[in-house]
Amino acid sequence: MTSQVPIIRLSGIGKTFPGAELSLRGTKLVTQGPALWMRNLARAVRLTAAPGEPVRALEGVSLSIDAGEVFGLLGPNGSGKTTLIKIVAGLLRPSEGTGEVAGVDLQSPQAIRRRVSYVSTTGWMGLEWALTAEENVRFFGLLCGMPTALARQRAEEALRDVELFEHRRKAVSELSNGMRQRVILARALLLRTPVVLLDEPTVGLDPEHRDQVLRLVRQTLPDRGQTVIVVDHQADALEGILDRAAILEGGHLLRVGTPMELVADLAGLRVVELITQGGQEPPKVPPSLVRRVERTQRPGPLGLTQWRLTVVERPDALQAALNWVLSGGSDVIQVAERAPRLADVLAGRISGREASA
Ligand SMILES: Nc1ncnc2c1ncn2[C@@H]1O[C@H](COP(=O)(O)OP(=O)(O)O)[C@@H](O)[C@H]1O
Ligand SMILES: [Mg+2]
Repeated sequence: MTSQVPIIRLSGIGKTFPGAELSLRGTKLVTQGPALWMRNLARAVRLTAAPGEPVRALEGVSLSIDAGEVFGLLGPNGSGKTTLIKIVAGLLRPSEGTGEVAGVDLQSPQAIRRRVSYVSTTGWMGLEWALTAEENVRFFGLLCGMPTALARQRAEEALRDVELFEHRRKAVSELSNGMRQRVILARALLLRTPVVLLDEPTVGLDPEHRDQVLRLVRQTLPDRGQTVIVVDHQADALEGILDRAAILEGGHLLRVGTPMELVADLAGLRVVELITQGGQEPPKVPPSLVRRVERTQRPGPLGLTQWRLTVVERPDALQAALNWVLSGGSDVIQVAERAPRLADVLAGRISGREASA
């Protein structure tokens, strides 16, 4: 439930990373023999850092998120999602711009870090491999200053939340990757901070556990009054659970809105999904009714190709699209037509104006 009170407010946020390239000038790496480690270490000290091109990761990002919202940060790889969420987490300082997270100015990252839980699925975020799942979660609570009894109780609840309770006595080293990912998530559930930040939380999970994580994001966290920002490079899984989403590209915020508002940009278009076998790429450019073509070769010996075509919503468009694909000499195995989804907005990044031009 949203309360229309901004809990996160960002204004003109930019981030530039200084570029540094390690130069191997004057070094000769030893690649074998017993002295490898020591000699490489000695030589590594001589590595010189040469200034490279600075990387502009974010530019002019202004955004306001209400308390209780489930907010999606979507965009392709390298669009600046992680940089932005780390700024909100108090883990990175913006190069410019101002903002506030849960009542704390971005200039006080240490205070912000006490009001947010941040989960990244890239890297193992300091799990202790020799300790059990439960110990990892409980010790994290103690580390954050929780009283022993509360840490124990919350650790148990958090492990139930991520359906790891029956595996709680297993060492992290014995768990599967998906389970480890859920231990990290359990750690974030423990603290009940006003803001929870999840960077690609469902990557690599099987469908059952992905749905379970999505239920946590949609139900459990908002029920506890927590505001959630969830980052994903795809929108397929998130479409049904987001109150609003922002689309980032090249460090710029392209659009912000409810999933319905964002998909409305594709009004007047349909998506045709095809699977074909054999053949070549069609020799000619697609007809004008076809606005966008995405073509993926499926692995395997069958020579299957998957197509996603965005076409104008007109009775003759499907036939025109099919004729074009078939002109490459392939056989159609499967055809499906559907209304556009949020993932299509991301994949196509077609603006309404372009689409109706
Ligand atoms: N520590 C860093 N140093 C230099 N460049 C970085 C650093 N972190 C991210 N970048 C660059 O900033 C851009 C945005 O990265 P990131 O925020 O990780 O994108 P996303 O999470 O959307 O994939 C990319 O070009 C990336 O290479
Ligand atoms: Mg990222």
